Parts: sequence; C-alpha cells; structure tokens
Amino acid sequence: MPKDFSLMEDSNRSANPSLHQVSDPARRVLLRGAAGASAAALLAPAAGALGGCATPTDPAIASLGRRIGFASVPMPASATDTLTVPPGYTASVLYRWGDPVGVPGAMPAFAPDASNSAAEQALQAGMHHDGMHYFAIEGSSRRGLLALNHEYTDDGLLHPQGMAIWGPEQVAKSIAAHGVSIAEVERKAPGNGWQLARASRYARRITAATPCTIAGPAAGHPLLRTNADPGGTRVLGTLNNCAHGVTPWGTYLSCEENFVFYFEGPVRPDTHQRRWGLQAGGGFFRWHEHEKRFDARLEPNEFNRFGWVVEIDPFDPQSTPIKRTALGRAAHEGAATGQTDDGRVVVYMGEDARFEYIYKFVSRDAVRRGGFKANRELLNHGTLYVAKFEADGSGRWLPLVHGQGPLTAAHGFADQGEVLVKTRQASDLLGATKMDRAEWTAIDPINKEIYVTLTNNSQRGASGQPAVDAANPRAYNTMGHILRWREDGDLDATRFAWTHFVLAGDPANARPGARGNIRGDIFGSPDGLWVDPRGVLWIGTDVSPTALGKGDYARLPNNQMLACDPSTAAAEGGPDIRRFLVGPAGSEVTGSVMTPDLRTLFVNIQHPGESPSERADPANPSRISNWPDGGRPRSATVVITKDDGGVIGS
Ligand code: FEO
Ligand code: CA
Ligand code: CA
Repeated sequence: MPKDFSLMEDSNRSANPSLHQVSDPARRVLLRGAAGASAAALLAPAAGALGGCATPTDPAIASLGRRIGFASVPMPASATDTLTVPPGYTASVLYRWGDPVGVPGAMPAFAPDASNSAAEQALQAGMHHDGMHYFAIEGSSRRGLLALNHEYTDDGLLHPQGMAIWGPEQVAKSIAAHGVSIAEVERKAPGNGWQLARASRYARRITAATPCTIAGPAAGHPLLRTNADPGGTRVLGTLNNCAHGVTPWGTYLSCEENFVFYFEGPVRPDTHQRRWGLQAGGGFFRWHEHEKRFDARLEPNEFNRFGWVVEIDPFDPQSTPIKRTALGRAAHEGAATGQTDDGRVVVYMGEDARFEYIYKFVSRDAVRRGGFKANRELLNHGTLYVAKFEADGSGRWLPLVHGQGPLTAAHGFADQGEVLVKTRQASDLLGATKMDRAEWTAIDPINKEIYVTLTNNSQRGASGQPAVDAANPRAYNTMGHILRWREDGDLDATRFAWTHFVLAGDPANARPGARGNIRGDIFGSPDGLWVDPRGVLWIGTDVSPTALGKGDYARLPNNQMLACDPSTAAAEGGPDIRRFLVGPAGSEVTGSVMTPDLRTLFVNIQHPGESPSERADPANPSRISNWPDGGRPRSATVVITKDDGGVIGS
C-alpha cells in the first residue's frame, strides 16, 4: 500500500490486551502430510488444466532440499533505478501496467502519455501489481495463467494531466485500473523467453466495477443491502486487492485490503464506522465525487460490501467473482491455504492495520473431486477464528461464532452475519491479540509450520497506544518481524505454539530496538511471504520509499526479495537470510510464484518511483524512477530464470 496510508491504518481502540500454491495436487498431499496420503485418493485434480507439478518428491528437486546456492546481491552503494538479481540469473519484464491483457480482438496499446481511456484501461494490466499465482495449464511449466492483483492506483501517473482534471472519466479509469488480471503466459524460447499470449481464451480483467456475488452467512444481511441492491447479494467490483491465496480446487483468492480509503464518511461517524476508520475527508481516492455509492453519507452500507476475500475461477472468463463472507471482513492482506488430514481447507489471513488481528478459517466439509463446480459451497460453511498469542509461547484460536461467549444479541450481534460484517468488533470482545500490521501468511509445505510477516508499527508503545507484548516485543517497531507457529496437531487445532522466527533490522543500527537478529543480509518491513515447494522461504520487503535512507532505514537498500532456509534459525540468533533481488527506486517487491518445475520465478514490482507528490503532479521533477522502459514508471511482473536452467535459488 502507499506509505501515505500507514499513518492512517489504526482504528482499533478496543481495550482488550494487545498483544499456495495448491494448483498442484502433489503439494496438497504434502500439506496433509503422510497421515493424509490415503485421503489423497479422494481428491481428483481440480481441473484438467491442473496437475503435474514437480515437488520435493521429484529426485532432481528433492536432492536440493532447502539449500540456497546463489551469491547474495551486494548492498548497493545508493538507491539505483534498476532491478538486480544474483550472478547467473536473468530477469526480464513480462507484464506492465497498461500492457493489453490479451483478450482476443481487443489489444489496446499502452499510450506512454497515459492517454488511454477508461474503456481501454479495462482491457489492459491494471496498476500496482501485488499477490499472484501461476496456474499451470495441463501441468505445464511452459504455459499457464498468471492471476494477479492490481492493488491501487497512483492517479498522478494514471492520467495525462495527473489529478488536475478530475471527473467521471478519470474515476472510471481509476476504477478500471484496479482489480485482478488473468493473463495467459507461455515460454516461447529456452530460458527467459516468456511472453504474454497474444489472444487467449482465458484472458480477463476484473475491475472495481465487475459484478460480483456475495455468498456465505452474511449474504443478504440487512447490513449489506443498498438502494442499488436491496437483496444484499450483488456488488460491483473488488478493490485494493493485496495478497492472495489458492484453493485446493484451483481457484484464486483475492483479498480486499484497505477498502476504507475509497469511502467518504460522515462528520460524525457511528460506532461501527469509527471502528473501521470511516471518517469525513477519508475518501482518499476521490471516487465518491463522481460515483455516489462510494459516499457513505448517501449509501452507508456499500462500505460493508468490501473487505472480503474474493474467489475467482481463472479458467472461466465468464464466471462471476464471489465474495466469501464466511472468511470474515477485514483489511485482508492474504489468504494462505492448507488442508487438514481429512481434506478440509484451512485459510490463514492477516489484517494489515495497526493493532488488528490474525485469522484462521476451517471449512466444515472436505474438498471433493470435480474442481470448482464440486466445491462452490465449500468456503460458505466453516468456523472463523481469531488468534490470541500468550506470553508463554502458546496460543489459542478463539471462535468467532454467534451465540458463543460474548458474541450475542446483548452485545450487539444479531446473528452470524453481523459477527462477520463486524469481525473486528467481535475480535475485540474476545480479547484477541493486537498485532504489528500482519501482512502475508505462508505455510511450509514440508512441516506445516505457519509464518506471518508483521511489517512494522511505529505506534507500538506510544503514548495512549498498546504497549509491547510477547508477540510484538518492540516499541516503535520500525523494522518489523516474522512470527512462526505450529498447530497443536492438525491445522484445525484450536491451540498452537509460536516463536519469533526473526526480528528484522540492521545489527549496526545505533538504536537497539532496530537491530534485530538477522544473520546474513539486512532488511526491514517484511511483507510478501511464500514458502516454495522445497521449503525455501521467500520474503519481499516494503519499506516506505520516502523513509529509505533515513533514520532506522539509513543503511537499507531499495526494497528487496530475500531467501531463507528456515532450518538455519538458531536459538542464539535469527536465521541466515540472503538477498536475491533488489528492486528499482521507489518500488516494493511482492507477489512471487514459480512454475511447477521451480525453474521460472515470477515476481511483481509495485509502485516504482512512488513519491507522495507524484499523485498531484505527473511532471514532478523529483520523480525517482523511470523503470522499466523510461518515461512513466510502471508496475510490472518480472520473469526470472537461472542461466543454467536450474532450480531458482539453488
Ligand atoms: Fe497491501 Fe499491506 O499491503
Ligand atoms: Ca503487502
Ligand atoms: Ca506493506
């Protein structure tokens, strides 16, 4: 997210104590472990388009284990506007903001002066790429679908005159630059020869105006009914799509994060609005000036129809995205999925806002044969939990179930729908742990340990704010940390044991609270997170570009992606972490995924050149990036291969 927002990501005033990749069936089996092997027979490949993934059970990859073999990218002397990978690797740009997504017969070229219309933008890559998955076509590591999020827009770059002209067309273009891309990619030449399919039967853009269905316990709830949708089951669009998840049946989960900044609130917000940060002057994106549904003074319930996890079938371009209310409403960062030994799906979700929570959803039913068609209802039924981290290293999952504990009508929850729309308030009442901005979650496919990035929290321990606690141990936490836990039994357990995997920082920092315990290459503000099938942990960072080079961040390079063998974590120090990639100036490194053979890595570079003043002035002379092609900086998907054809990171 834009760093301008970080100061606003705090609306939890409650008094409680503070504190994927499944498109390949083989990994699914790994997630369930040996005990689940017999259950594997119950599960067919989710679709004909899936399957055939290399895993650590393939000899060539199994022999590598978690070993990391590349030479760290050295610390750059200054913030440079290039993308750097280790010697022996090649990176090239694949899919930039404005590139046509590949809908047959509709290939609007990108206009370097940003003069593409809203209608053209709706057929091109959106802005600000984030979470991403590669859905193999027929198991191929040479042809597949990239499903990726376009989190938000920099309207200073999106329009020829920046925001100097602001009317319905500009709002429509901003709406069209949000959402999700489904883009078909293919490797046409050896090595790094990937390209976008020019005309794909799968290609699709979903935007903040695409009709979506609302499903699950809150569908049709009075809190979700609007003048345009009296039934409360249909909503236009998905927005602020941050990280993601992938279901065992081969669909994509896109997570709506900081939706509140799209809504203009009243001068005197009510209790519910205030808890979610809705306020007068809060409509940062200024859509409400020309799209009245984003004006909560006129349509107060539209705001409740965002903040959900959205399920998308990437293989059916005619399918309607579905907002899954059973997974709760939050500033959803991501949705990492696993399975219990008996085949139920488990989804871990962080909420990226200061002093908010970490959630887990466990489905009622097991995954069935037959892909999405057979599992359409699976995410509508189950139990949502919120995490409480105890000081002794144990933890509990507290059920967010109407009628249990304080979640009753007497406390303002009429039914389960209201518990889900007001997930934060329900979590407050249960005494869940207030975290330091939970970003991505990830599951180790080999041992089922779960990780979460806590990116930073400059307000931790500040006057009037929650104090440090066991799980969030640093006041003025500029550098962030990564937690790891193991469930007490299977993934549906209600107790777990947690530890700090690493405290990010710089050992040379003069301030003890910013030193951390990294062994290897330094970083701050961990955000993106993924464990690849052989168990290597990949970390993307998101230090505010305007903060880099200053204060605690003085010695950090541009944002980066790092790799780690988790088994190197030692009691006396953190794990050994190596710098794999440094992004261009002003960018964030996010959304990473590999092909099934682990020989191609796709990475998203978000908001190169980000600086707050650009939003108002596209000709801003202080612009710090022209990546990747000169001219306006463009977020882009990058493809990385090893020159000897080997496994990425080996
Ligand atoms: Fe969209 Fe919290 O990053
Ligand atoms: Ca993020
Ligand atoms: Ca972030």
